[in-house]
Formats: sequence, C-alpha cells, structure tokens
Amino acid sequence: MVQVEITHLNLHGQGIGRHRGKEYRVDYAYPGDVVEIYTPRRGRWGVRRVVHAGEHRVEPECPHFMKCGSCRWLGMRYTSQLRFKREMMQRLFQREVEVLPSPAERYYRNRMDYTIGGDAIGMRRYGSYAEVESALGCLLFSPHSDTILTASAEFFRHKKLEHYDILRRRGFLRYLVVREGKRSGRRMIAVVTHEGTFPLDEYAEALSGLAQEFVWAVNPTLTDTSRGEVRAGRGCFEEKLCGLSFRVPPFSFFQTNTLQAERMVELVRKLVCGSRQVVDVYCGAGTFGIAVAECCGEVLGIEEDAEAVRAAESNAELNGVTNLRLISGRAEEVMPGLERAEAVILDPPRAGLHPKVVKALRRLMPENIVYISCNPRTQARDIAALGYELQEVVALDMFPHTPHIESIAHLTP
Ligand SMILES: C[S@@+](CC[C@H](N)C(=O)[O-])C[C@H]1O[C@@H](n2cnc3c(N)ncnc32)[C@H](O)[C@@H]1O
Repeated sequence: MVQVEITHLNLHGQGIGRHRGKEYRVDYAYPGDVVEIYTPRRGRWGVRRVVHAGEHRVEPECPHFMKCGSCRWLGMRYTSQLRFKREMMQRLFQREVEVLPSPAERYYRNRMDYTIGGDAIGMRRYGSYAEVESALGCLLFSPHSDTILTASAEFFRHKKLEHYDILRRRGFLRYLVVREGKRSGRRMIAVVTHEGTFPLDEYAEALSGLAQEFVWAVNPTLTDTSRGEVRAGRGCFEEKLCGLSFRVPPFSFFQTNTLQAERMVELVRKLVCGSRQVVDVYCGAGTFGIAVAECCGEVLGIEEDAEAVRAAESNAELNGVTNLRLISGRAEEVMPGLERAEAVILDPPRAGLHPKVVKALRRLMPENIVYISCNPRTQARDIAALGYELQEVVALDMFPHTPHIESIAHLTP
C-alpha cells in the first residue's frame, strides 16, 4: 500500500507526491491531501482512500466521482480551481494572468457524448477502455439529462437493442450525443450505432418533449468515436451566442460552455473589430467570423470539416452577414497559398498549429493575431515559434471541475 502527501499539481492538473524517493502523479488528488493510491492502469494513479483532506478538498456533489473518468477536480473547491488554473497559466506564460470564472458551475455544458454500455449510459470508467459508468445524477449538462438517459435506456431495452462491445467488436448501440442550447432552449439527440436498423421515428416519439431534433448515424468502423454517417433525421443543434443564431451539424464542433463562450466572443470582437481584412482559421460553423463580420471589412474562414463549412455559410445568411467567404480545407494546405492577412483569428484543436501554418503566418506577418486555445501548453509553444510579441493573455474557465483551461492571447509583430 502506497500513501503519499500531495505537495503540488503538475500542468495536467494531477496531484504530485513522493514515496520512498519515487514521484507519483495522482488523479483526483490535491495539494495538502494525504492519500492512499492504487494503479487502475500502468502509469496512472488514482485515490483509493483520502487519509487526510487538504484545505482545497470539498465533498463532491456527484455519486460517480472517481469512478467516472471525468471531472478530476470536482473534489476541489471552486475558488481553489481558479487559483490553480491561474498558477498554471502564470507558469506557462511567465506573467500575471486573469482567469474569468465560468458564469455557471453546474449544467454549464451544451453537449455530452454518452457511451452506451451494457447496463449503463454514461462516461468511460476511470482507467478502463471498455467499462461505462452511469451518468445519472451528473451535474455537467442539464437538469433534464437523467430523464433523457432513463427514457433512452427504457426504449433500448424495450426494443431489445444491444450495446456495442468494443472489446468483442459486436453489438449495435454506440453513443448518445445530446446537445442543449442554453440560449435557444432547443435540444438535439443523436444516436450513433454500428450497422443495422434503428427505429428513429419510434425513438423520437418515445422521447417527444425532451428534444426537438433527432438523428440516427452509423459508425461501422473499429474506431471508437461518437460520430457517424447520418442515416435518418435532418436535425441540427441550434444555439445563440451574443444574440447571433447558429445551426450546427449534429457532430460538428461548437463552443461547449455557451455563457462563457459569449464572453470569449466579446473579447475577440474587442481585439479584432475595425480590421479591414480578417482570416478566421479553424472557423468551425462560423462562430468568430460571423461575430466580427459586422465590425470588419471582409472575413475569410478556413475549416477542414466540410459540413461545418456548409453550416458556416448558412449561419452567415441566417445572421444577415454578406462579407464572410469560406474555404473548405486544411489550414496547413490553405494558409501557404494566402497573399494577405491583416488580422488573424486562430482557434486550433488541442494539438495546436501545424508547422506549415506557423511558417505561413511568419511570411504573411499579420498586424494582429488573436490566438484562442483549449490547450495553453501548445499555445505557448506556438507563440514562441511565431516570434510575435504577447500583448495580453486572458484565461476563461470554460470547463469547471476539470483541469482544462481556455486561453485567449493577443499577439502583435
Ligand atoms: C476548437 S474548434 C474551433 C471552431 C470555431 N472557431 C468555433 O469557435 O466554433 C477547432 C476547429 O478546427 C477544425 N480543424 C481541425 N483540424 C483542422 C485543420 N487541420 N485545418 C482546418 N480546420 C481544422 C475542427 O473541425 C474544428 O471545427
């Protein structure tokens, strides 16, 4: 039995402690805690028992804490979460960084990708590839999520539809993707299955009142992903940000914490408005490009997800925006061909910028770069590679109860 005292957190939000000269990185453990640890999988350490609770620890509000693989910081008081996020940002950027708290600590997410398991619908269990921990009682998404999960489980049971077993590569039901517009008040449910037939109309009838849009999609591959080819239903996720309307294809990206995303849009507007020409790289369904279009000259959006590009086009129309042009393609392939970029908005996935994008930006030398990131580690790396001056960096807590940080950096040559 190994018992460690947690002295600090690493940049992944894991508690760090030592025992007999060896360093342990422990999930769900915070500075000041003394914990007994176990390893659910090689290289990971979890908490078996809290021997002494440090000053940052609170009683978690969720019955699945430490069994479900999410919400590593749910046992930490919210003010401490903000403090540690601030410290992580300061370590990365070597300066004071403000962290804006999330407007909502509960039910802040507008999207959940639930795995459908044998006897539960929920999240992958901590340390396991295959087991599923129920999400009943989860406070991340919506007060209606338990009703949706219970009604879905009941329907699947009644129809004798089996879950897909990723170890045996057999079965049918894979994921339930539920999206809830916090501003629009509208919900979309997508059921992702393996090949077969899913009675979508009956499912929609059984869950009528719980969502307005229903979709059935198929993922016949071995890849464990919560998206597929749409076979029935034409629904989109509908949401509003700062009074603008967005229709997003069932599986395309949209900022997950709506209320905090509105602040992010305001910050981006403040930094970009007045530019004659803007390039919105990794533009998704058009969030930032559309939000700055009315206060800028022309806007060019670049995005690899063709469905998101089509959505960005129709979202521009929906909001009366006529100065947004879009290119469907990879940033690393499109950017080297650009001749001009006065202001650039960057919002890449967690891996950050492709070296070809960095090279193209160094050639284009925009007057203004706003770099939005859900991974400040790759963001800091890319800023160093760009050789730009960091004017300001602000962090927004988009993901309470997790160590994840959203960060906006303003750069000039
Ligand atoms: C963090 S999301 C940002 C989306 C958008 N800015 C928003 O706020 O909704 C990243 C986006 O980059 C797209 N993407 C990923 N890799 C890409 C690439 N190599 N080139 C262009 N777009 C890419 C994804 O499809 C996704 O829409």
